[in-house]
Amino acid sequence: MLENTTMTQAPGEQQRSQGAAGTARSLASEGAADQRTVFDLELIQRYDQSGPRYTSYPTALEFDPAFDENRYKQVCQATNASGRPLSLYFHIPFCDTVCFYCACNKIATKDRTMVQPYLDRVYKELAMQSALFDDDRVVEQLHWGGGTPTFISAAQMRELMAETRKQFKLADDDVGEYSIEIDPREAKGDTIALLREIGFNRMSLGVQDFDPRVQKAVNRIQSQEETFAVLDAARREGFRSISIDLIYGLPHQTAESFMETLEQIIAVGPERLSVFNYAHLPRRFMPQRRIDEDQLPPPQVKLEILQATTERLAEAGWLYIGMDHFARPDDELALAQRNGTLYRNFQGYSTHADCDLIGIGVTSIGKVGATYGQNRRELDEYYADIDGGRLPVFRGIELSRDDEVRRDVITRLICHFKLDFSEVERAWELNFQDYFGRDLAKLEGMQADGLLEIDSSGIRVLPKGRMLIRNICMAFDAYMEAKQGQGGFSKVI
Ligand SMILES: C[S@@+](CC[C@H](N)C(=O)[O-])C[C@H]1O[C@@H](n2cnc3c(N)ncnc32)[C@H](O)[C@@H]1O
Ligand code: SF4
Repeated sequence: MLENTTMTQAPGEQQRSQGAAGTARSLASEGAADQRTVFDLELIQRYDQSGPRYTSYPTALEFDPAFDENRYKQVCQATNASGRPLSLYFHIPFCDTVCFYCACNKIATKDRTMVQPYLDRVYKELAMQSALFDDDRVVEQLHWGGGTPTFISAAQMRELMAETRKQFKLADDDVGEYSIEIDPREAKGDTIALLREIGFNRMSLGVQDFDPRVQKAVNRIQSQEETFAVLDAARREGFRSISIDLIYGLPHQTAESFMETLEQIIAVGPERLSVFNYAHLPRRFMPQRRIDEDQLPPPQVKLEILQATTERLAEAGWLYIGMDHFARPDDELALAQRNGTLYRNFQGYSTHADCDLIGIGVTSIGKVGATYGQNRRELDEYYADIDGGRLPVFRGIELSRDDEVRRDVITRLICHFKLDFSEVERAWELNFQDYFGRDLAKLEGMQADGLLEIDSSGIRVLPKGRMLIRNICMAFDAYMEAKQGQGGFSKVI
């Protein structure tokens, strides 16, 4: 039987958090973030609703075709005066087989001859993008996502990185955060060595669940042996901050079965873990229609899985960073959260806050200056643009000042679980209470429920509110009322 309220905290956290509790103080003046999380079942059930994951604000639902190639070029060139570092995202859309749960932008194919024509377009896009940015702007962050980036051959991986180095100035290994998403079924020991050699130093491994019944139901058969062989190789080669992806809410899962997978993961001790809530949107994602809905765990079981997972990970020494992410207390993400430098972007949480992000490849989204821009989503349209010498940006958004202010507030809350009004006032030359009076009023119920504290200096998210940080951020989302009821978002839990 589950208890309604359970406290989860990492070893060593107790003393600090108890010291902060109960004393008279101003919320904004508090030092290191309190990194405890409390799982309150009743509250989580009550607040469970659809909402954005805030990898961007405004979300992609607000993107508009008025933001086109020409405007994108102007914006990019204008950012050169800042000299800001760059971040490069490459989308490799191909997968050998489709996992039925998948909500990513992918193309399932056995035909590996599709890769070279795609990469040839990517090289042309790289050259066009590089022409927009000053040569001395350093790429501090680079990510290959998918799909399955290792679907491409070893020679193609080398070539893609070599082409990138021709067009952009990459940072040294100790500065650059160069990461790749790995499907262990598509990577062997020598692939990992190659990836390290060409410059990658971080990776995430897709696992989801080791239970054979679950794997069969979602069409992803993957053994522990092949998974951990990749993890061992990554450690041997000197990859840092290795992350593992799991999903809860898949067919046949129970708290008990999921804990078996989790114990195996804990035993190998990755620095980071992403435990995603299965987003079941079969109208949007065709392969999900092949999942038998009768086999999906009911909401109560999903909550049991989430509770058991948060508690077990805390006991085993992982901190809840926020929004599905866990990290060891000594990992960069946890450190960045403690010292106030954590940031959130399309890849989740990050320690590189102020980069301009260039999205390369089909469907990729970039964030340059105060804009977001997205590349064409269909392969033939992407090819047609590139072949015609055009950058394939087809929609996006220029943030208004209000968007920027709200993005800043949401980012601070989602990364640090607290908000110092005076910092926002200084950054944006406004009076917080005047500007956000209506939004603050929306938080009153949450304050009464013990999710957060508000005083004249700021907001502090309490341990019970950490799992519900999306709901708290939604109070500051100016598009929320219009978006609710459109069905475009997954549930918060
Ligand atoms: C692009 S995939 C990772 C790389 C590689 N393709 C793989 O599957 O191993 C990104 C991650 O998104 C997560 N994911 C995919 N579809 C999801 C869904 N419907 N709900 C929640 N998470 C999902 C999975 O955990 C997956 O590992
Ligand atoms: S989860 Fe990964 S391997 Fe599976 S279909 Fe999605 S992108 Fe491809």
